[in-house]
Amino acid sequence: MQGRLARKAIEDARGWVAKAVGVAAADVVFTSGGTEANNMVVRTAVEYGKKLGVRPHVVVSGIEHPATLAPAQHLASLGEIDLTVLRASLDEGAVSASDVAAALRPETVLVSVMLVNNETGCIADLPGIVKAVRDWESRLGPAAHRVLVHTDAAQAIGKIQVDAQALGIDYLTFTGHNVVKANEALDQACELVVKNLETYTAAMALVRSEIEKKLEATCPKHLAVVFHGRQTRNGRAPNTTNFSVVERALLESGSAKQSKLCSSRIVERLSAAGVLASRGSACHSGGVAVPSPVLVAYGIDASIAQNALRISVGRDSAVTDADAFCEALWQSCEQVLSS
Ligand SMILES: Cc1ncc(COP(=O)(O)O)c(C=O)c1O
Repeated sequence: MQGRLARKAIEDARGWVAKAVGVAAADVVFTSGGTEANNMVVRTAVEYGKKLGVRPHVVVSGIEHPATLAPAQHLASLGEIDLTVLRASLDEGAVSASDVAAALRPETVLVSVMLVNNETGCIADLPGIVKAVRDWESRLGPAAHRVLVHTDAAQAIGKIQVDAQALGIDYLTFTGHNVVKANEALDQACELVVKNLETYTAAMALVRSEIEKKLEATCPKHLAVVFHGRQTRNGRAPNTTNFSVVERALLESGSAKQSKLCSSRIVERLSAAGVLASRGSACHSGGVAVPSPVLVAYGIDASIAQNALRISVGRDSAVTDADAFCEALWQSCEQVLSS
């Protein structure tokens, strides 16, 4: 009886996960999480290449989550694959389809580009990237092997419409913990997302927009807010905003490196005020800030990236949260500046 209940729970979750990402239920493979899923895809592609008798070549973007980048870099360091890490830009929000096309080789077995970046929320042009890959295969002719295309959609589900089949991709990473709220089961959360995505998206976009407007309107004169990825070609997921707060005088004189507003310090103060934010850098005890490798990979200057904060809103966030957030942020900045 217990076994049957457990099986039903798993099959219900499988069915709703499948609907949430646009695949058949039989295509869903459960793993321990996104890290294992991304590792599995990279390793599967390498085995695929070996079976084809080629030295596998893998293309990834430089802004991928470490769950993709680290295994790819590890295999490259062992000499098992050739790896191309493509540069992303803030204009594009990700890597461009033309850069992916230019990186392809007859030995390419895998292209892995995340759908929504976890730090900026920027959306990649997956349809354009898949088209570039399939066009390349057609040019090589019928003897060409299929280039596997993977997207890490961990930050996309529940935020933007995702349809793996329409995208024409081979693998997609889904993470339950980015969708499920407290006390929800995976099938319930996915069902809610499938049925209410438009409502959730509109609500999150409204709160995010209010936060960004309030940040601009209430920023004290001696400080400046620099947004990262706010205007990109392919848009952003509605839940995320990423920005740096810098002393205006330092920003204008090109000396942002001397800023005291390293994000670790701000996040610490915000957290004491009950506001959870993610930082774009780690400040070491010696006062040296290490900016987020993802923001630097986007081409953002390290001196600005070291102050970056990522704020995400959820299905339950309210427009009034924007006021409370800005107040807590400016207070935290003043505390850090006067410390
Ligand atoms: C984009 C992205 N990929 C992969 C992961 C890793 O997933 P997990 O923590 O389930 O291993 C995360 C974590 O949230 C993520 O945001």
